[in-house]
Amino acid sequence: MMDVAVSDAGDFLALKDDQKQHRFHAIWLRDNATDAETRSPINGQRLIALRDISPDVRISSAEIVGETLKVTFSPESKSVEYPVSWLRAHSYDRAASDEKGWLAPGIETWDSALNQNVPSADFGLVSSDPNARTNWLADVARYGFGKLEGGPVKDQALMQVVELFGFVRETNYGRHFEVRTEVNPTNLAFTGLGLQAHTDNPYRDPVPSVQVLYCLESSAAGGENMVVDGFRAAQRLREENADWFDVLSRYCARFEYAGEKGVILRSRKPMIELAPDGELIALRFNNRSTAAITDVPFNDMDTYYKAYRRLGEIIDDPSMEVTFRLEPGECFIVDNTRVLHARKAYSGTGTRWLQGCYSDKDGLLSTLASLQVTSLEAAE
Ligand code: FE2
Repeated sequence: MMDVAVSDAGDFLALKDDQKQHRFHAIWLRDNATDAETRSPINGQRLIALRDISPDVRISSAEIVGETLKVTFSPESKSVEYPVSWLRAHSYDRAASDEKGWLAPGIETWDSALNQNVPSADFGLVSSDPNARTNWLADVARYGFGKLEGGPVKDQALMQVVELFGFVRETNYGRHFEVRTEVNPTNLAFTGLGLQAHTDNPYRDPVPSVQVLYCLESSAAGGENMVVDGFRAAQRLREENADWFDVLSRYCARFEYAGEKGVILRSRKPMIELAPDGELIALRFNNRSTAAITDVPFNDMDTYYKAYRRLGEIIDDPSMEVTFRLEPGECFIVDNTRVLHARKAYSGTGTRWLQGCYSDKDGLLSTLASLQVTSLEAAE
C-alpha cells in the first residue's frame, strides 16, 4: 500500500510503501509533468523550458488514487497525474556514493571462461527474425561483442551487418577498410609479431564506438581473432591497486595518428574513462597510437607508467582472452569503448581477407531498445 506525505514547506513529497520511501522534489515533479501542455503527446518532447516554471514552485496537495499520484502545484494551481509505477522506476532517493569504476546495470564482465559460450547467432536468422535480432543485440550490449555466422561471402557484406542495427561511421579510411594478409614462406618468420590487443582509433574524438570485422577469405592456418573485456581488465587493476586505477582515470593520455597526407588526428582522453559519478564508461588502449603523455604531473608520472604497464600485463594475460576463428561469411562486432581485439599470429601459408568498418553504439542501443519495446507491446 502506497502512502503520500507532503513536506511542511511543500518543497517535496514522499511516497512510502512497506519497504521504501521515495522522495521527489516539487521542482522535479513539475519539470517531469506529462500533461499535454508540458510535453507533446505526439513526440514526447518537452514544450516548456525551466524558465517557465516558478523557482518558488510548491506542492499544495497530493493524493494517491488507485495507481496514480495526483499533485497540485502552486503558485500555478496546476494539477498533474503521475503513474506510481513510473515514479517508482524513476526514484532518485538514495545517498551519494563515491565508488569509482562501477558498471551500469546489464553489463556483464567476462574472462576466458566465456570461450565456452561465445555470444553468436546466425546471420540469416538475425536478419529475418526480430526476436533473434533482439537477443543478439542484447548479447552485444551485455558482453560488448558478438559473432555472426552463416553470412554471405561477398564483397561489402559487412554493410548488411551494420544495417541490422545502425549506420556506418565513415572515416579517412573510407566507409570500410580492407585487412588483407598474404602469408608466404618468405615472410612467415615475421608473422609471429602478433598485435597487442587494443581498442581502435583512440585518436578520434568521439571514438567510433562499434567496429565490425567481416571475413571473406581464410586459407591460412592461425590468425584467430581474440577479444579481451577492457572493463574486466580495469576492474582487475582496481582490485590489485586502487591508486593505479585512479591515476589512469584521473589524467588524460594523448593519442595521435598522422600516418597519411592531410590527416593529423589527435585526442586527449583518459585510458580509463569514468563518468563524473564514477561509472566506468570507456577504455582506450592502443600502444601504436599513444602519443607523448604530457598531462600527468611529474610527481605522478612514475605511478602512471607503473599503472599503464600493469594494465597491459592484465590485458595480455591469457586468462582474460576469448579466441575464435572467423571463417568466410562470419564476422564479429565489438563495443570499441570497452572490448579490445587482436589477431593471433599465423602458423601456415595462405591468404586471409577481412573487411572492417565502424559504426556507433548509440544507434545499436536505440535499435535494441525499440525492438524490446515492440516485443513487449506484442506480448501485452
Ligand atoms: Fe584494430
